[in-house]
Amino acid sequence: MSKLLVEKSGPLVGHVKIKGAKNSVLKLLAASILANEPCTIESVPELLDVEVMITLLEALGMEVSYQRELETIVTQPAKHLLCEAPYELIQKMRASFLVMGPLLAKKGVAKVSMPGGCAIGARPIDLHLKGFQALGAEITLGHGYIEANASNGLVGSEIYLDFPSVGATENIMMAATMAKGQTVIQNAAKEPEIVDLANFLNEMGANVKGAGTDTIRVTGVEHLTGTRHQTIPDRIIAATYMVAAVMTKGDITIENVVSSHVKPVTAKLREMGATIEDNDDSIRVIAGEALKAVDLTTLPYPGFPTDAQAQFMALLAVSEGTSVINETVFENRFRHVAEINRMGANIKIEGHSAVIQGVKTLQGAQVKATDLRAGAALVLAGLIADGVTEIDEIYHIDRGYPQIEKDLLGLGAKITRVES
Ligand code: EPU
Repeated sequence: MSKLLVEKSGPLVGHVKIKGAKNSVLKLLAASILANEPCTIESVPELLDVEVMITLLEALGMEVSYQRELETIVTQPAKHLLCEAPYELIQKMRASFLVMGPLLAKKGVAKVSMPGGCAIGARPIDLHLKGFQALGAEITLGHGYIEANASNGLVGSEIYLDFPSVGATENIMMAATMAKGQTVIQNAAKEPEIVDLANFLNEMGANVKGAGTDTIRVTGVEHLTGTRHQTIPDRIIAATYMVAAVMTKGDITIENVVSSHVKPVTAKLREMGATIEDNDDSIRVIAGEALKAVDLTTLPYPGFPTDAQAQFMALLAVSEGTSVINETVFENRFRHVAEINRMGANIKIEGHSAVIQGVKTLQGAQVKATDLRAGAALVLAGLIADGVTEIDEIYHIDRGYPQIEKDLLGLGAKITRVES
């Protein structure tokens, strides 16, 4: 088991380059199931979750070659594509469930293990399944598996999502690419990763319109070909380093970021007193003299991202005054509160809100990452806490940050990984 030791580090200063987005690349890999030719995906970050998705594609019969030094993956269509995604892989990573839409489109049948609950809430998949049903699939549940069957093929339909779920939008969009006729997804998620996936599908010959708006129209095509595609930069890693700049009273230029993707984060940091220079594909973040408390509410894109909530919690823990964070996307995404409080913060949970009374400083302590973003928040807290912060269970962090120590060391942080 590895641990991260983080010491109080002083202002972080310098440049850091953001890699491709995990939450995009996982879906691009799932979508490559649809192609009847090789697909090349560029800007692939080296992450545990990417390895899990590769193993899953291989288990389905595809050949996948990952050139890590080039950050490139080439997928080859399976000679005999299997339609069953096993429990061992689905339980390792929820996003593996995203193979269901492509398998259903390509094979007319898909059997995927039910993803369990997870550290950030129950996270049901009802919206995915309702979408598949609307496209004509028959769904049966049993022995921990979900089977979707559309032996006569999927047929385009109108689908209204009760909530703009990212995963459901993506799964339905992929399933609809080869359905007969037109599918309209209303109240669709608008995240940049949805747009990236739609672009990838269109490059493969699909006909997807409206991605990035709340109405996506997919007109079915006969087959999808191969393509070469560059993954969008990871907006949540960018947001994490933007918080690091402000929190450590530093000055960081973040390169390879789409500034419009981090607008809600930029707006909050400005409200707190930071100066942000927006240069479209790079952002310079200069901390203000004092950090002012702000309130924020997580929302689907373009609202404030739930994936940056924990990092902002760490920042607000040492800001002047009282802040309130409302978490509306996940019902249980406050497990980091207990850990940040162990470091001397004053945060109380009231239902779906956290009330944060800013304190002057934090103290290093032994803490554990309870999920990916919670882990990132503890790293940030460790950078300004007195003494040493020892973070356990950092495999969570490794699921989404390809090189957090390397990036932070390059900015002057004192951070070490130790094997225990
Ligand atoms: N939901 C349902 N029914 C469904 C699907 C979702 O009720 O069928 C609920 C969920 O329980 C949750 C809310 O809708 O309360 C949002 O879930 P959504 O489907 O939008 O999220 P997701 O696709 O499971 C992706 C990211 C998450 C990110 C969310 C929201 C990936 C692999 N994961 O999850 O990323 O928090 O969108 O933006 O893309 C992370 O990277 O740390 C992470 C958790």
